[in-house]
Amino acid sequence: MIVPVILSGGSGTRLWPLSRKNRPKQFLALVGDTTLFQQTVERTRKLGGAEAPVVVCSEDHRFTVAEQLQELGVAGSSILLEPAARNTAPAIALAAMQARRKDADAILLVLPADHLIGDESSFVDAVERAVPLATQDWLVTFGIRPEAAETGFGYIKRAEAVSNDGFKVAQFVEKPDAATAARYVESGDFDWNSGMFLFKASRYLEELEKHSPAIHAATTKVFETAQPDLDFVRFDKAAMVEVPDDSIDYAVMEKTDRAAVVPVSCCWSDIGSWSALWDASNKDADGNATNGDVITLDTRNTLVRTHDRHMVATIGLDDIVVVTTPDATLVASRDSVQHVKKVVDQLSSAG
Ligand code: GDD
Ligand code: MG
Repeated sequence: MIVPVILSGGSGTRLWPLSRKNRPKQFLALVGDTTLFQQTVERTRKLGGAEAPVVVCSEDHRFTVAEQLQELGVAGSSILLEPAARNTAPAIALAAMQARRKDADAILLVLPADHLIGDESSFVDAVERAVPLATQDWLVTFGIRPEAAETGFGYIKRAEAVSNDGFKVAQFVEKPDAATAARYVESGDFDWNSGMFLFKASRYLEELEKHSPAIHAATTKVFETAQPDLDFVRFDKAAMVEVPDDSIDYAVMEKTDRAAVVPVSCCWSDIGSWSALWDASNKDADGNATNGDVITLDTRNTLVRTHDRHMVATIGLDDIVVVTTPDATLVASRDSVQHVKKVVDQLSSAG
């Protein structure tokens, strides 16, 4: 039994001003008519034999999640509501405990809710090729060929093959510094970690207990407080804030010797910034990605995203990002959009 686990707890601050606290990027229709969250759920329905998903999200987003699932006609999902965000290692642990309750051998397909996948059949194919490895107790990650020395990703070095489709992981390095990332990309021996995983729920919990026992113990206590309420499952806040904050990448994947990687080439993007969205968007002959009422004159390689019937015109621009919303506008050069987070930090400290 494959149980999709959709991680939907991120805040997506680098896509300000569109992505906001009450509606972060996974719940926005950034590419196409459905949201990234909905596209992620739809993708799992293309897999043979996948159950209804377990969604892990903030309590604040419960209605958004329920509504977006309902729009897709998805029934029977479990929506685990975190009273406090403690990063992905605990979020996945709660999902694993929930799935294990129904089926001791459940295999989890962990998917971030905020990724874009252009080639869904390659994705489905890679997951199907990874299932035998997960059944054999490997913690499988899906590896992407790196395109640049990005520092926001995990890097995976392949060791020997463990099947026709997968390799043992020799080294997993989460978010290396720029010089190290450049060295890794140069060497040709490393893949990016896509942040999607396939493993038995029970095996993940064993590895978590072995390598990060404090997270395992605290999350077990949280799960003891589970209160089902229709499709929702609620947890005690006092127990949740005791859980150490850590990602699966640091807490388990860097440490385990049971990691395997299945390479996938599926036009993947984590839409981590406006520049990544520009990369992933359809563009006109001048390389501009626009939506709605936009006029571009003598403008190249620029992203313009407007709202409602708000007209935006640009003249003589190269490599710029313009995003308007009813109460805020961002204008930035495309290569400095990583700093959008600083604006958000400044805004939250101001108010
Ligand atoms: N439920 C829940 N609770 N979800 C969370 C939480 C949490 O506390 N924190 C993050 N998430 C969700 C995010 O919404 C996202 O979908 C996913 O988990 C991954 O978290 P990110 O914060 O986006 O991680 P990252 O992008 O810095 O790094 C991860 O993804 C990269 C690929 O995009 C790592 O796995 C890297 O190794 C990987 O390369
Ligand atoms: Mg991410």
